[in-house]
Amino acid sequence: MTVKPTATESLPDDVILSVENLEVCFGSSAAKAVRAVQGVSFQIRRGETLALVGESGSGKSVTAMTVMRLTEYDGARITGGRILMRLKDGGITDLTKLSEKRMEVLRGFEFSIVFQDPMSSLNPVFTVGDQIAEVITRHQGKSPREARDIALNVLKLVRVPDAARRLDQYPHQLSGGMRQRVMIAIALACRPSLMILDEPTTALDVTIQAQILDLVRALQREIGMSVLFITHDMGVVAEIADRVCVMLKGEIVESGSVNQIFVDPRHRYTRALISAVPRLGSMADKDAPEKFPLVIYDAEASQPEVAA
Ligand SMILES: Nc1ncnc2c1ncn2[C@@H]1O[C@H](COP(=O)(O)OP(=O)(O)O)[C@@H](O)[C@H]1O
Ligand SMILES: [Mg+2]
Repeated sequence: MTVKPTATESLPDDVILSVENLEVCFGSSAAKAVRAVQGVSFQIRRGETLALVGESGSGKSVTAMTVMRLTEYDGARITGGRILMRLKDGGITDLTKLSEKRMEVLRGFEFSIVFQDPMSSLNPVFTVGDQIAEVITRHQGKSPREARDIALNVLKLVRVPDAARRLDQYPHQLSGGMRQRVMIAIALACRPSLMILDEPTTALDVTIQAQILDLVRALQREIGMSVLFITHDMGVVAEIADRVCVMLKGEIVESGSVNQIFVDPRHRYTRALISAVPRLGSMADKDAPEKFPLVIYDAEASQPEVAA
């Protein structure tokens, strides 16, 4: 029996996700509409990490949440463009056209998202094991016993030490870094082809941040999934990305390979972001690692500001 393709759209063979000319507005009437994202286009290839970088409010989360079709819950509307996704069955579908019911089937199974704050994403009244097992039973129809075994393996995959004991713990019993590993485990449980991470390390201290970045890189090598990694931090981009899209005020102002972006940045804002990354050796007199400053872009100012 041949698998019926989900739709008749087409994509280059190695492309998993293609966002084309996306426009997202907040506000109920056309008169009050605030355009949060406009003309945004990018593609993610199989096994690739694409970083979406830009200052706070530039439209990174709205872009990611719209791919998941979750911005609608915040009162946003997709007012233009397409989001083509290659599904595991080989079909290609335009996510902007799907019903909420269909999206519920796809979220967690075809793609998943990890947010900045694992405490507010995890449910405090369920154990870690139950929360991982829940996605497995929901999407894969496994028995509770099978789901628990898979949950244990996924916890091991994200390098949670003493995984068997952790399964029966509650979120508040874990450190911030461990909670973020659990969130990644939940996102990975059904082996999606795309994982979106929205500032996953911003709330963590730099040492834990480095461990989580190492983990994402290792997982990507092991599983071969594609990653859309959102950050405001060019240091993180350098660590993790293959390609970069720089966002400013709802638009992508520059994109290219990570090498191209760092060696030959074209946009003034990209240069400002890069200049905020500490130079090699500049941390020599510091006792501890530090977070990079936020860059605030003011098109009118002669020099972009670097916040302390
Ligand atoms: N819930 C909301 N209601 C109205 N406008 C919003 C909402 N969320 C985001 N926006 C608008 O979208 C813009 C981009 O936000 P966001 O994507 O969250 O930025 P970031 O790049 O920091 O993730 C904001 O500057 C704001 O104008
Ligand atoms: Mg955001």
